[in-house]
Amino acid sequence: MKSRTLAVALAAGIFALAAAAIGIAQGAPAAKAGAPAAAGKAAPQPLVILDFKPTLSDLMTMLIQPRHIKLWAASQQRNWTLAAFELNEMRAAFDKIAATIPKYPQPGTSVDLGPTFISLMGPKIQAVNGAIGAQNPMQFATAFNDLTVTCNSCHEALNHPYLVIKVPDTTGYPNQDFRPVPGAAPLK
Ligand code: HEC
Repeated sequence: MKSRTLAVALAAGIFALAAAAIGIAQGAPAAKAGAPAAAGKAAPQPLVILDFKPTLSDLMTMLIQPRHIKLWAASQQRNWTLAAFELNEMRAAFDKIAATIPKYPQPGTSVDLGPTFISLMGPKIQAVNGAIGAQNPMQFATAFNDLTVTCNSCHEALNHPYLVIKVPDTTGYPNQDFRPVPGAAPLK
């Protein structure tokens, strides 16, 4: 009962904070864009959430590269629950990228990213998923290496041969613990 009260109080506090943060965010652009607005009567400005068109490279750096590292880091700790989570996040991130940039321009043509991701990465993701299901470190290492080679095949095919992805040698995330949490099962 006590801890429930605490949880409710915490949740209320978080919402209050979030509301305060939104208030500040809404105030900022209005103040900045205030110049030509009719003197005195500042009309409410529409809130621009994101005036930023990420490139494929931005999205790869934001959404794919960290999951590739974390997937590996989880496997090093035999944390198959986390590995499954990260793999699924990576798969979903490829979908999000294809939805954001359906056609990636190439000299004189363009590449349909959705089908390309599915045909190239689909089987590799399946193989990693199989290794995670089997909780088999050797099988994982092979499948993960194969997946990584495929990242580079696409970089080469799409004229970025200098973008070379490798199997990590450190996690690079000093603030995340990749060890298994006893009893932690994914929500179904
Ligand atoms: C459909 C082909 C394709 C696949 C598959 C692919 N990439 Fe990419 N990736 C690209 C292209 C093309 C670029 C450069 C995009 C640009 O110039 O905006 C890129 C850029 C990147 C970058 C940005 C590099 C930088 O320094 O800014 C990273 C990181 C990256 N990819 C990681 C990966 C990883 C990891 C995988 C595999 C898990 C992967 N990519 C799979 C096509 C692909």
